[in-house]
Amino acid sequence: MRFTTVPVVAVTAIAAATVAAAAVVDDDCEVAIVGGGIGGAYTAWRLAVDTKTVRPSKVCLFEASDRFGGRIFSVDNVPGYEGYITDVGAYRFHRTDHPIIRSLTEDALGMETACYTDPTASLPMNVTECPPENQLFTTVRTVSFVGDLDAGEAPDESTWTPQWPFFLADENKWGSGRPRSSRGQLVDVFVGPKSMIPELASRWVALNDKNATLEAAMALADTTLAALRVGTYKGVPYNQVSVVQMARDAGFTPEQMAMEVGFSGGSAQFFNMNVLSLLTDSVRKMATKRLPLAATGPAAAMVVPVTGKGASRKRAGMASIVNKLIDEARAAGVRVYTNHRAVSVRYDDGDVIVNFSNGGQTEANRVFLNMGKADLLALGAASEPMASASEDARRRVDTTFPLGASKTYCFWPSAWWLSDLRLSTGRGKADNPAIVQPRYHDGPVQCTDPADVSTCRGGLLVSYAFGDDTGAKSGMWAASYADAPYSPISGKDAITVLVKDRLTPRQKLLWSALVDGIRSVHAPVLAARQLTSMTIDEPDVCVMASWFDVSLHISRPVPTLGTAASAELYAAPAEGLPIHLVNEAWGDAHGWAEGSLQSAERALHAYMKLPPPSWLNTVVHTAVIKNYNKG
Ligand SMILES: Cc1cc2nc3c(=O)[nH]c(=O)nc-3n(C[C@H](O)[C@H](O)[C@H](O)COP(=O)(O)OP(=O)(O)OC[C@H]3O[C@@H](n4cnc5c(N)ncnc54)[C@H](O)[C@@H]3O)c2cc1C
Ligand SMILES: *[C@@H]1O[C@H](CO)[C@@H](O)[C@H](O)[C@H]1NC(C)=O
Ligand SMILES: *[C@@H]1O[C@H](CO)[C@@H](O)[C@H](O)[C@H]1NC(C)=O
Ligand SMILES: *[C@@H]1O[C@H](CO)[C@@H](O)[C@H](O)[C@H]1NC(C)=O
Repeated sequence: MRFTTVPVVAVTAIAAATVAAAAVVDDDCEVAIVGGGIGGAYTAWRLAVDTKTVRPSKVCLFEASDRFGGRIFSVDNVPGYEGYITDVGAYRFHRTDHPIIRSLTEDALGMETACYTDPTASLPMNVTECPPENQLFTTVRTVSFVGDLDAGEAPDESTWTPQWPFFLADENKWGSGRPRSSRGQLVDVFVGPKSMIPELASRWVALNDKNATLEAAMALADTTLAALRVGTYKGVPYNQVSVVQMARDAGFTPEQMAMEVGFSGGSAQFFNMNVLSLLTDSVRKMATKRLPLAATGPAAAMVVPVTGKGASRKRAGMASIVNKLIDEARAAGVRVYTNHRAVSVRYDDGDVIVNFSNGGQTEANRVFLNMGKADLLALGAASEPMASASEDARRRVDTTFPLGASKTYCFWPSAWWLSDLRLSTGRGKADNPAIVQPRYHDGPVQCTDPADVSTCRGGLLVSYAFGDDTGAKSGMWAASYADAPYSPISGKDAITVLVKDRLTPRQKLLWSALVDGIRSVHAPVLAARQLTSMTIDEPDVCVMASWFDVSLHISRPVPTLGTAASAELYAAPAEGLPIHLVNEAWGDAHGWAEGSLQSAERALHAYMKLPPPSWLNTVVHTAVIKNYNKG
């Protein structure tokens, strides 16, 4: 319960300076939260502001870096483009797939949101549909397919044509027995009325009943999830078998799987998810589609937080949500510390003792660790809660796998994709390691005259990449060119800033790959627009964010040693110890901030007896939080 900065005996000058800069406090922390990502910020806010369960001055939050948000990182200081808010990490949420973050942001925090696919945030709040986000062109194995750019439609990738640069023998077409003319997709193995999962196939039509009430849909999802938890594939529980294993059995060849990855923005690593984990989130999302939404908000689609009214309405950046939680917590009296990286967590007779790298130490009655797998393991094998965790809990932690992701935004004085290419929404899929998936609605743009796109300047998400399908088109590629690794031990942040006239030789490699990539990837689009003589200018500046070592987590199959849901074990990995894991890694919505909030709310509900949030649908709370999505 004390928080003190202890004298450090043998230190370097740098470490000594850090210690001197550390806040010297000698006070009580009843609850310590380690990590100021959205999960940690939410935990502090729920305890001290929303429910006032713990006196705010007894809640302490420690963040390793000098900013909050972790993998939510809204940059506003790109050289030459100051004030152009750019989300180099997470950037959006879905209004019905992600009910906790939606209700938190829109209802509890009172923030406005707008369609993610409306780059200038100018559509009326109550649009019934957001602009589509189709994949307008695909280049795969050097062959390009361009859709109807004017209509914003994707090329047809459902019907086999001989131009497809893939080898499909007659005996291995789209899974056994299917004609080559009708493309089967991996997803068909799992979802749909012909799913290989009988527990799902038999309920498919009912799960999709758009007329069902939320209550009925959630009850059906519960029944389905309960059946999936005891169901097996050839006698193997669904959490012990992977998507790729079942797909191979369904007749999918490696070539067909390469094709899936080639045509989509996905990654082969997703194929190694365990089937139960894949389906838990999918089935729940089918039910939350029936959540009634207030007519004042945008459509049931991906949205981003916005600020300002009328013509001055603009994207606020995803970090505005985290900052609001932190600001409210701090204003209420929560003690918030930056530059405090926990390096060990011990338990001694009712106290959890956390040591920080700056020499500080805190003792608390209860600790919430807002860390993903890498940060948790970086605390060391002797640290709690893993030191005292059951073998089953350790295995569940081991099943999580952080898969690399990267985003690169480049900035131009003229927004050529809007003015010349006339692309304001949709995405592309390229065959280039530097430029994997450009997204034309994603990037901060400001226009002198909003009605005239030739007056717009700003940034474009030139590449979005996940995983490591070939070792080239991947998060690993970007990580290989980062200025420094971003990891629990590096002490660096995730971004590499490339300014045209100030590039190091190593940055020049990346820069020329980006510039060449942007040009070659857009060649088929320029041709489709009859702009073959146009050369896309070099950008002024690019910001590359590599989240390779600390990215988003998927859950591999592993033989479990008990029947608990993984989420139950994550909420308290060491039985009897007041230490809880709160992170995207430990939720069911892998890769989404929603997963982080799920894990936080579960631990708060089960171990601090927090009442359901007044702003959250009670049916959602019961199914997802109280019952851990177990059905
Ligand atoms: C490229 C990319 C795009 C994404 N897009 C989306 C999206 O559009 N929408 C969405 O919902 N999600 C998205 N996600 C996922 C989303 O970013 C995460 O789910 C979410 O931000 C996780 O929040 P968290 O609080 O659980 O963890 P983190 O953000 O990882 O926060 C952990 C915090 O704890 C701190 N910390 C770690 N170890 C210590 C320690 N030892 N001591 C002190 N502090 C420590 C870290 O510095 C960090 O601030 C994306 C992720 C990536 C990488
Ligand atoms: C949206 O709101 C405006 C008034 O603000 C109203 O005129 C319009 O009919 C609404 N549209 C829908 C689809 O609800
Ligand atoms: C849903 O309701 C509409 C309108 O009442 C009706 O036409 C439709 O058949 C219903 N669908 C199902 C699946 O019951
Ligand atoms: C934590 O810090 C205290 C005080 O410096 C020290 O005595 C103790 O050994 C440290 N514990 C660990 C596990 O590093």
